[in-house]
Amino acid sequence: MGMDKFSANGEGKASEYLYPPEILKRLDFSNSPAIFKPKISATQPGEDWMVVRPLQRSDYDKGFLQLLGQLTSVGNVTRKQFDERFTQMKQSGGYYVTVIEDTRSSKIIGAATLTIEQKFIHNCSFRGRLEDVVVNDTYRGKQLGKLIVVTVSLLAQELGCYKMSLDCKDKLIKFYETLGYKMEPGNSNAMNMRFDDPS
Ligand SMILES: CC(C)(COP(=O)(O)OP(=O)(O)OC[C@H]1O[C@@H](n2cnc3c(N)ncnc32)[C@H](O)[C@@H]1OP(=O)(O)O)[C@@H](O)C(=O)NCCC(=O)NCCS
Repeated sequence: MGMDKFSANGEGKASEYLYPPEILKRLDFSNSPAIFKPKISATQPGEDWMVVRPLQRSDYDKGFLQLLGQLTSVGNVTRKQFDERFTQMKQSGGYYVTVIEDTRSSKIIGAATLTIEQKFIHNCSFRGRLEDVVVNDTYRGKQLGKLIVVTVSLLAQELGCYKMSLDCKDKLIKFYETLGYKMEPGNSNAMNMRFDDPS
């Protein structure tokens, strides 16, 4: 697979997507061990006011950063900073920020990011990382966490990653296990070296 699959083709409009939304139509939710009751998927999220899609430039005005604020500190990100980061992510490729929108209120209510690392090892393979998973607190417990995590996990598979990794709090291990993630004894330690406080 070449890098072209991960690269951008944007026009700079407010409705511009970070990555082509058509990829989400190719995901087969029957490939996930996750159990959805009732059944939902990225293309059929269960409510006609809900849509699962790539991040758009205009999501700055749809509460995307406020939603991330329910996960960690975001800081006072200006529209210019947001626009520049969006452009950088799109140009470099490999960033699949995926959101759930409540179209009744035009608010982003869930998000997760797949980042794709290019490797030399394993025959020039790709590895996915799951990052920044969050569901708006008033919408939790309705399968949306599962929906957004399964969406980006299947996306990693669809894009040819040989594995997908995540770091999480202890209390979320069970949640991720139901979605197909496994602890690998002897190889499951997350370590960090902290430099500046990012906020
Ligand atoms: C984690 C999070 C995304 C889950 O979203 P959600 O929409 O409530 O999840 P779902 O409704 O799909 O729940 C799926 C299952 O996980 C369980 N679960 C969800 N959040 C959980 C939590 N914080 N602790 C333990 N179990 C949890 C649910 O009970 C549910 O179990 P069930 O299928 O047996 O009923 C959401 O709680 C959140 O945004 N938390 C704050 C940010 C965060 O911690 N993100 C994860 C960083 S690794």
